Amino acid sequence: MDLAAICIEPLGSEHDRSAFSCGVPALDRYLREQAGQDARRRVAAPFVASSDRVTVLGFYTLSATSIQLTEVPAALAKKLPRYPRLPATLLGRLATDLSARGVGLGRFLLIDAITRAVRSEIASFALVLDAKDETAASFYERESFIRIPGTPIRLLRRMDDLAALVGGSRSGASA
Ligand SMILES: CC(C)(COP(=O)(O)OP(=O)(O)OC[C@H]1O[C@@H](n2cnc3c(N)ncnc32)[C@H](O)[C@@H]1OP(=O)(O)O)[C@@H](O)C(=O)NCCC(=O)NCCS
Repeated sequence: MDLAAICIEPLGSEHDRSAFSCGVPALDRYLREQAGQDARRRVAAPFVASSDRVTVLGFYTLSATSIQLTEVPAALAKKLPRYPRLPATLLGRLATDLSARGVGLGRFLLIDAITRAVRSEIASFALVLDAKDETAASFYERESFIRIPGTPIRLLRRMDDLAALVGGSRSGASA
């Protein structure tokens, strides 16, 4: 598969999700049955990857969330204001079709999600995600996401670091 030919765009009615299979039935079902409703109700923004703008080969979702300061790893928390909750961006789901595995599509989707999160004008100090198991967690740890202690498998990475990774910058007041 040529990643240069892959288009990642918001889920629309033209996208065919019926054959999508990532090996995790709950994620397949979510894409088929729930993602469209979540988009309409603005509780999640699903983005899909395809080479023909129709057949979905991968997807992810982004939503606003917040995390408690007490959840943030200590080394990072000491650089943050003492607000009880901090704004963050949730990478809710990310999956690739079994037919498109091991060619870099998962990482391509992750970089696209990071790029969109970094570009947002809504303040968010980190990208947060819940890995469904240890295998998924190691996929994100390869990209320097760190575990939030005391949670099942929740990981985060600072938006500043991610902005540097994708060559974007978070706009901020200079005063
Ligand atoms: C996790 C998932 C998205 C990875 O997608 P993919 O298209 O196979 O990943 P890529 O080809 O982009 O791989 C990127 C790198 O991560 C590694 N990697 C891929 N899957 C991995 C996994 N499950 N665990 C650890 N590392 C993994 C690859 O070896 C590759 O490393 P390399 O660049 O050194 O070769 C895919 O396996 C998937 O959809 N799994 C089912 C759903 C799931 O678990 N989603 C995670 C969210 S909870």
